[in-house]
Amino acid sequence: MGTVRVVEAIERKRAGGELSHEEIESLVLGYVRGEVPDYQLSAWLMAVCCRGMSRRESFDLTSGMGESGNSLGLSQLGFPVADKHSSGGVGDKTTLVVAPLVRSCGVAVAKMSGRGLGFTGGTLDKLESIPGFRVDLSATEFMRQLETEGIVIAGQTPELAPADRKLYALRDVTGTVDSIPLIASSIMSRKLAIGAHGLVLDVKMGSGAFMAKREEARELAELMVAIGTAAGKRVSALLTPMDQPLGQAVGNALEVAEAIRTLRGDGPQDLVELSALLAGEMLYLVGTVESPEAGREAALQALSSGKALTWLERLIALQGGDPRIVERPELMGMAPIVLQVLAPSSGWVTRLDARGIARTALTLGAGRAIKDDSVDPLVGVLLRAKEGAFVEAGEALAELRCRDRGSGERAVAEVLHAYSIGEKPLEKTMDSYERIES
Ligand code: URA
Repeated sequence: MGTVRVVEAIERKRAGGELSHEEIESLVLGYVRGEVPDYQLSAWLMAVCCRGMSRRESFDLTSGMGESGNSLGLSQLGFPVADKHSSGGVGDKTTLVVAPLVRSCGVAVAKMSGRGLGFTGGTLDKLESIPGFRVDLSATEFMRQLETEGIVIAGQTPELAPADRKLYALRDVTGTVDSIPLIASSIMSRKLAIGAHGLVLDVKMGSGAFMAKREEARELAELMVAIGTAAGKRVSALLTPMDQPLGQAVGNALEVAEAIRTLRGDGPQDLVELSALLAGEMLYLVGTVESPEAGREAALQALSSGKALTWLERLIALQGGDPRIVERPELMGMAPIVLQVLAPSSGWVTRLDARGIARTALTLGAGRAIKDDSVDPLVGVLLRAKEGAFVEAGEALAELRCRDRGSGERAVAEVLHAYSIGEKPLEKTMDSYERIES
């Protein structure tokens, strides 16, 4: 695309107009090849942020980015493969539960995950708290493990949707991340390049989510489902609450231990329910059960049989990790300092702010403020009381696992700030789940 035509495309988008398939494709590919400079693509991205994109433009952007590298070729395998994506939350360790759970129900799972950044945790960081676990598989290793074992979770390979990586890095520094069509196209370009047959999207809403409001979460979910369906995939989305953290553990090794406990049949209720719903959707989308409800039932049965836990153990061994942590999670290690956060008064927990607990986890060193930060696998928060619980003054609200006293003391103050304790029980009814399929 020549300079004049790029300027015209930017101006048309700035005025709220639509770009053609060819224009979007040549912007994306021109940018990847270095023919369209950063400043022009940034101007176009900002115009998209302000003016939005039509569905057709979002489809074209997704396919342009998705086809910018190699696809994995899952469609050539002789069996269906399921995948999941979470839009990111606090304490969200569902992948560690759902992948072995779905595999134990006889369906293959292929998942490329990300690292945590800002307030959201990342599955790769959680897996790396298991001694020896390798997340940097090549595309060949990824496919070999999928073909022979039917379960693999690794980082994104460099040849997968390179345009998305380049565009995302630019959006990150130009204030253009926050756009529903850009987010939807980014996520779906990678998912389509992986190419699983069935994909469930867990779109979080609430204080600990990218999308605080249900309406925005719904818009994002509907667009992603429409993109996937237009590309010929079976895709559904669940809108799920993220006002308070999921489960009790926030922090990498602590979350792995909680996932193990859940696969043993002893997990926190919210994590069990969400994992069963997501696993049920995956079984339904690849066609092994008649309905998402039947899938949820099958997942709950698999959870209580203990079979799913053996698949987590197998996954760990396959990727070089120490499988003994399934029996003895303490082999992952223990942070040197444990602090209790005590309830300042008796009453009902009326709020437990997910964003506040995410901030605490960052203070302790469990997450990254910027991409190059390293994470401490052992630090984090164990929530002893969640919304709706009654606590006595002096009872533990949370336990902190800390590297040093300074960060621990700052974290205590942050946890206290994240809790509200009232004289009356919580009136708010649980935010209901919502399912979207086209
Ligand atoms: N996550 C992604 O993968 N892409 C975005 O654009 C935003 C969040």
